Amino acid sequence: MNSIVIAIDGPAGTGKSIVAKLLAEKINFHYVDSGIYYRAITYWIIKNNIKPNELQKINDFVKNSKIEIKDDNVFLNGADITKDIRNMEVTNKVSSVSKLRNLRKIISQKLRDCANSGNLVMDGKDIGTVVFPDAKVKFFISCDDSMRAARRQQEFLDIGQKIPRDKMLKEMLKRDEVDATRQEGPLKKAEDAIELDTTNMIVEEQVDFLNRKLIAKGIIE
Ligand code: DC
Repeated sequence: MNSIVIAIDGPAGTGKSIVAKLLAEKINFHYVDSGIYYRAITYWIIKNNIKPNELQKINDFVKNSKIEIKDDNVFLNGADITKDIRNMEVTNKVSSVSKLRNLRKIISQKLRDCANSGNLVMDGKDIGTVVFPDAKVKFFISCDDSMRAARRQQEFLDIGQKIPRDKMLKEMLKRDEVDATRQEGPLKKAEDAIELDTTNMIVEEQVDFLNRKLIAKGIIE
């Protein structure tokens, strides 16, 4: 694998996916939002009424499933699930699905395979720590809790779901706790990650910050 990988991790609602996507566009790298993989499997589990203890069934499905991202649309085995993976039910359940150890191993390998097609910006929770511990550059994005809840609330409004801010914040903090305390691939900053607090920054400033770091490190010109 000779591709350059840029890992961007951080909690939900920090704006990391949009900044990762814009950075990738700017520097002409592929972009992968790893959360999509966990959301796609969670959607399949809910839709097919799979019980949490049906681990073999879940792992077999994940191994044989094809998750594709084309022009901002997400396909699971050919079916367009772009909108489905962002609904509240999936959002609330995805953290508990993401705790499953073997499922994480299979998804992590699928994520590593993404680097076979070229240089890559990938965002998630464990990209710099587990998926690509040797990533060329690692960033860890943070943001004030109330701002994170506001951003998440807007994301739901964009797909037509109105959720009160305090409910949003409560659910978000609950998911943070699950993501940060799970045994396999917990959300945490890699020791060599560059930190960025996006609370008071507009997205263009964030992209510019990351871009300048890449130039300083000689990754891009
Ligand atoms: O970034 P997001 O909100 O779309 O991520 C959804 C969930 O997926 C998140 O709560 C935890 C999980 N996830 C993970 O465990 N590891 C990753 N690399 C990416 C996401």
